[in-house]
Amino acid sequence: MPANRKNSQQWFERSQQSLVEGVNSPSRGAAVYSPGPVFLERGEGSHVWDADGNEYVDFLMSFGALIHGHAHPKLVEVVSQTMAQGSHFAAATSAEVEAAERLQRMVPSAKVVRFANSGSEATMLALRLARAHTGRTKFLKFEGHYHGWYDPYLLNAHSHAPEMLGPPENPTRMPDSEGIPSATFADVVLAPWNDVAALERVMQQHGRELAAVITEPIMANMGCILPHDGYLQRLRTLTQDCGALLILDEVVTGFRYAPGGCQEYYGITPDISTFGKALGAGFPVGAVAGPRSILDRMRWSDHMVLHYGTFNGHRLTMKVVAANLDLLSADGAYKKLHGVGDAAISGLREVFRRRKITAIVQGFGPMFQIYFTERDAIHDYRDYCTYADTHLYSRFVHRLLELGIYMTPSNGLHWIISTAHTEKDVAALIEAADQACAALE
Ligand SMILES: Cc1ncc(COP(=O)(O)O)c(C=O)c1O
Repeated sequence: MPANRKNSQQWFERSQQSLVEGVNSPSRGAAVYSPGPVFLERGEGSHVWDADGNEYVDFLMSFGALIHGHAHPKLVEVVSQTMAQGSHFAAATSAEVEAAERLQRMVPSAKVVRFANSGSEATMLALRLARAHTGRTKFLKFEGHYHGWYDPYLLNAHSHAPEMLGPPENPTRMPDSEGIPSATFADVVLAPWNDVAALERVMQQHGRELAAVITEPIMANMGCILPHDGYLQRLRTLTQDCGALLILDEVVTGFRYAPGGCQEYYGITPDISTFGKALGAGFPVGAVAGPRSILDRMRWSDHMVLHYGTFNGHRLTMKVVAANLDLLSADGAYKKLHGVGDAAISGLREVFRRRKITAIVQGFGPMFQIYFTERDAIHDYRDYCTYADTHLYSRFVHRLLELGIYMTPSNGLHWIISTAHTEKDVAALIEAADQACAALE
């Protein structure tokens, strides 16, 4: 641990006595941060401070949840006013109506909305709805896509050594977790992403038995991998032809690339959309949205799709969601997210070029990732597993942490721009990246 992180080190030692690995998710602990995590204590705008008082520019932003940065004054005001009146009633409230109406306005495919408490809950519900709606049980997921920690989604969501992957037309099936009955995966069809020919093959073989195909529109859990031109559109047509629903998992991309997320950006209309992260601006929330014909299956009856939850439509969260979506609907919010992000991307590319570091920066605007690779692009899971030097990336980010840039050393995540980031933050990143490159040479 660097000398200026004594308090973080002490907290980490103490946390071992009460928390598994000292954290609440392995991605926050020593499996990623070596020799242990930075303990964060305070955040304001785009900056965070750790337990030793060190200041950082934050580019992780709670894995993308903090679309307006930390402690946005409007959200602080909404939270304190709402809290003074009671945080949650588990009853019908005007707050949940106002949040849903705003979501509907921003996402045209959202004819009706159901709120849950996390992205994982939203994707769980989406699959149950799709199965009930179609009367089919199987579904297709893509290699390297992560949709939360629900049992059937935990197949090939982690990266593996390339020799373990098997052929693309018949991928080796690798569960990501113990404790899941193997029968669960009998209903999962697995396919490579971003490859139209492979998709046509698998849909021809399995399409008519699929309740749904679930996809991230931009692959955000192997860094940041963009869909090839026309890929999502082809997926839309093929699913329609087979009577399988298209679940667009916009937990990462929703409210980030455009008011209507990637479905607006790429011009596709899914059957079911799932949201989380940026929707809550730092509060835990998930949402499922789509047409009445599908979501109305949750209406009370002997044959309903069950979705309960004490904290669904949590009043405090719903007030934050409404205020957050108002902020995002204000003029210039997306222009700023894209402008600042694009400046960071081109600045980083220039640093790597000048320093003669073989690295690419992939993505655009509000979200991107750096890959240390000889390739000119990472197109899919197999490219990521084969060509991205994740160890070098981790070394690079550990150095950035010492230079006042907060980011996860995991190459599978991505850099996040919030509306709180400024040109000055980008300049700090470029300067730190330049120094970190010098350490890699
Ligand atoms: C694409 C995608 N879907 C779903 C989830 C699950 O969301 P949560 O962590 O809020 O349960 C994630 C989380 O990172 C995600 O990246």
